[in-house]
Amino acid sequence: AQSGILLESCKAGIFLEANVVDVSLLANASRQFIAQLTELQTQYSDAHLGATVAFGDRVWKQLTGADSAPELKPFTALGKGNLSAPATQYDLLIHIQSNRPDVNFSVAQSAFNVFQSAVKFQQEIHGFRWIEERDLTGFIDGTENPKDEQRAKVGLIATGDDADGSYVFTQRWVHQLDKWSKLSVAKQEDVIGRTKPDSVELDDVPATSHVGRVDIKENGEGLKILRQSLPYGTVTGEHGLFFISYCAKLHNIEQQLLSMFGEVDGKTDRLLGFTKPVTGAYYFAPSLEKLKAL
Ligand code: HEM
Repeated sequence: AQSGILLESCKAGIFLEANVVDVSLLANASRQFIAQLTELQTQYSDAHLGATVAFGDRVWKQLTGADSAPELKPFTALGKGNLSAPATQYDLLIHIQSNRPDVNFSVAQSAFNVFQSAVKFQQEIHGFRWIEERDLTGFIDGTENPKDEQRAKVGLIATGDDADGSYVFTQRWVHQLDKWSKLSVAKQEDVIGRTKPDSVELDDVPATSHVGRVDIKENGEGLKILRQSLPYGTVTGEHGLFFISYCAKLHNIEQQLLSMFGEVDGKTDRLLGFTKPVTGAYYFAPSLEKLKAL
């Protein structure tokens, strides 16, 4: 699998999204990027450095034909009015993460250099791990994330031609912390569905709380995803969560989104009153082997 998918608790990440202008240059650029990444991983072996290159539906079909990643499709808008998720499907995602923002910056420079003639960059977000792995709402983010060997089970396709590949979803959220901070801690806990100091699930999780919306069972089994989101932004300007999740099944991510944005039972996630998504895109991250062989 690509090295950026399964890493745990990295201190910082960079998210680059781009549209492809010359698809014929992508294969070579990807190989060059992996070579330069490997060098930096050796040079900074203490950094726990990893990165993922992933492709949107349009480009992935051009690169490989229709058989690979059958679940891949463009992300389309969900919900209504001010409780909606816009679609900003791009063609290419580069996700870099490690314990060293300085090393991440070098990897991003490397990505920029090798991909710039093939793509037009659309978004660059630098994320940081905040105190105690909390989101900027003050709640611990990642408590129910799969751990250890469960990460690969949830995050990577197990068998077949796409083995070790992963479906990816990115969504940048802008928080309204002024509004959020006016809620009492008890009310905030009702919105999330967990306690604030220590992230314990409430005895009675409200159906419209965040956890109530995304903790979904299908045929008795929980729909799991692997989240690698990070807070981003500035104190005086825009800030929020850069949400990113990996999964062996795009279906799991999609069901959670449908449930959050009122497309299952009409109920929406109460978080949407305090934070808004401003981008949204699906990608496929092929195995390292497949990426090198494009
Ligand atoms: C759980 C925050 C968006 C999926 C949580 C938790 C927090 C949180 C605080 C509880 C602790 C934990 O288990 O990690 C946020 C914020 C978001 C956001 C601030 C956006 C601003 C999303 C989106 C999805 C999602 C878009 C799905 C596509 C999940 C899942 C869980 C979770 C699967 C674990 C639920 C469980 O099994 O208990 N999130 N989240 N989250 N979130 Fe989010």
